[in-house]
Amino acid sequence: PEGLQEFLHQLNDDMHAAADWGTPAGYIPELAAVDPAQFAISVAMADGRTISAGQHDKRFSIQSVSKVFTLAAALGRIGDALWARVGREPSGTAFNSIALLEQERGRPRNPFINAGAIVTTDALLDGRQPRDALAELIQFIRAAAEDSDIHIDKHVAASEEATGHRNAALAHYLYSFDNLQNDPDLTLGTYMHQCAIAMTTDQLASAGRMLSGLEGAPRLISARRARRINALMMTCGHYDGSGDFAYRVGLPGKSGVGGGILMIAPGKASIAVWSPGLNHYGNSKAGTEAAHRLANFTGWSVF
Ligand code: DON
Repeated sequence: PEGLQEFLHQLNDDMHAAADWGTPAGYIPELAAVDPAQFAISVAMADGRTISAGQHDKRFSIQSVSKVFTLAAALGRIGDALWARVGREPSGTAFNSIALLEQERGRPRNPFINAGAIVTTDALLDGRQPRDALAELIQFIRAAAEDSDIHIDKHVAASEEATGHRNAALAHYLYSFDNLQNDPDLTLGTYMHQCAIAMTTDQLASAGRMLSGLEGAPRLISARRARRINALMMTCGHYDGSGDFAYRVGLPGKSGVGGGILMIAPGKASIAVWSPGLNHYGNSKAGTEAAHRLANFTGWSVF
C-alpha cells in the first residue's frame, strides 16, 4: 500500500516514544539479559520487495516462532500421521502448561504449545541424531528465506538447557504416555536448539513468504498445507492470547518469547516484527501493538 515505508518509520518512532516495552522473558537467563528498548519490523511484499524499519538487521532468538517451521517440516516427513499424536484445537492455557496433558492422556491440544511442539519435534527427529534433524530444519528455513546465513545461537540453547525443567517435565510426561518415539532427552535437546535459532526480521519475513502464497516464494509446501498451517496460527499461535490477537489484528500469527512475531497476510505479505519485552501472555508487547496498527493501516485483516 501507498506510504507503507513512511508508516513503518513512524511506527518505529512511536514505539520508542511510548517506551511501553513490557518485560523480556525471565526464565531463560540469556533472554532476560536482552535490552527491552528495541523494535524492528519487516514486510515482505507480493512484488518481491521487503520494506523494513527499526533494527531489521539485528538477530534475535526466534524461540516459538520456530514451531511453524518444525510443523511444516514434520508434516513433510510423516504427513497427516502427526495428527494422531497432536490435536488442532486452541488450548486456552499458557504456552508451557502441563495441566491438560493428564486429562487428555498425553495428546497435546495443538502443535504450538510447548507439549505439542515437543511431540512435533520428536516426529521430525524420527530416530535420527539431533544434529541431523536440526540440519534438515535449518536447511528448510534457509531455503524458505533464500538466505544461508541463518544459525543456532549456542549460548541461548545452553541457557535454556540449564533451566528448562518445565520442558523436561513435559517431555518425560509425554514419553510416559508413549507419545514420544525417541529418548526424551534427545527430543528435548533438539527442541531447545530449534528454539535457539537466531534470525533478523528481514530473514523471518522472507521465510514466511511460503505461507503467504506469494509469487516467487520458494515452493516448499503445498498451498493446501500452507492454508492449514495458517489456520493453526490463527487459532493457536498466541496461546491463551490467540483470540485477542485474532480480534485485534485478524491475521494468522506465531509468537515467541524472544519477542518475535511472524504474521501472514495471505496473498499480500509476510510480516515479521520484533521487540523483546513481553505482555502477560508471553507475547511481544510492542510487537502486538505494532501488528494491530499495521493491520489497521493496511486493511489486511482476513475478516
Ligand atoms: O520452550 C520454551 O519455553 C521456549 N524455548 C520457547 C517458548 C516460547 O517461545 C513461547 N512463546 N511465547
